[in-house]
Amino acid sequence: MGKIISLLNHKGGVGKTTSAINIGAGLVELGKKVLLIDLDPQANLSLSLGIPRQPNTIYEALRGESELEPYTVREGLDVVMSTLDLSGAEMELINEAGREYILKELFEPVKDDYDFIIIDCPPSLGLLTLNALGASDYVYIPLQTQFLALQGLAKIKQVVDKVKFRLNKKLEIGGVIATMYDSRKILNRDVVDTIRKYFGEKVFDTLIRDNVALAEAPSQRKDIFYYNASSIGAQDYMSLCKEILTRLEVEEQV
Ligand SMILES: Nc1ncnc2c1ncn2[C@@H]1O[C@H](COP(=O)(O)OP(=O)(O)O)[C@@H](O)[C@H]1O
Ligand SMILES: [Mg+2]
Repeated sequence: MGKIISLLNHKGGVGKTTSAINIGAGLVELGKKVLLIDLDPQANLSLSLGIPRQPNTIYEALRGESELEPYTVREGLDVVMSTLDLSGAEMELINEAGREYILKELFEPVKDDYDFIIIDCPPSLGLLTLNALGASDYVYIPLQTQFLALQGLAKIKQVVDKVKFRLNKKLEIGGVIATMYDSRKILNRDVVDTIRKYFGEKVFDTLIRDNVALAEAPSQRKDIFYYNASSIGAQDYMSLCKEILTRLEVEEQV
């Protein structure tokens, strides 16, 4: 398969990093080989999985100083880490020819080694995010099921459409992930209805519920399946991973 997926939303705190980690780890549980790319200078993904500082990070690779050098967390799960240095990359690469395609080029030699490459995007729509979209097959949009979840979504759609037109014809919004869902709150239920009206079939049936284990796992430097495999968070992300695989199988048949 070898699918490349970007977790995208220019808002912070919507569940991009949590989803990148736990979709990645869930797919590994299902026997897939996964590479996670931390493309956020905040390095939350790298910190959440306790990746030891590597000599070469995504920053050096984007600058052309190294290849991608993944760190193996465990069998099937590799990570290319980020550091705060990456915050300078957008400025530093601005005059580079083909600057939107650097990540795509870096993936060429490694992409056949993996079933999935999952990119955790920064909360912005700048050059780093354009690199992610230029290299991706699918965009997954995590949306917090709260008031204002849909605010700014027109912007995301616009950016995806532009990238599709100018940089990457095969790019598709592959799914919308409703996160931090609390069924006791009427507001949350209303927001999910609104998200479904806006995105239709794109919205995954699995709702990622609000679950404290998902928020605790990073402090133990673990994904949800190693932190608490019986938690609601683990159940939800496993269900989402199965849905992702089914959806991709269906798409490949048509
Ligand atoms: N389903 C969830 N239930 C409870 N807490 C969550 C859930 N998903 C994410 N969180 C917490 O919410 C915060 C923001 O999530 P995060 O994945 O870092 O968002 P983003 O990467 O979009 O900024 C983090 O502290 C994370 O642990
Ligand atoms: Mg994040």
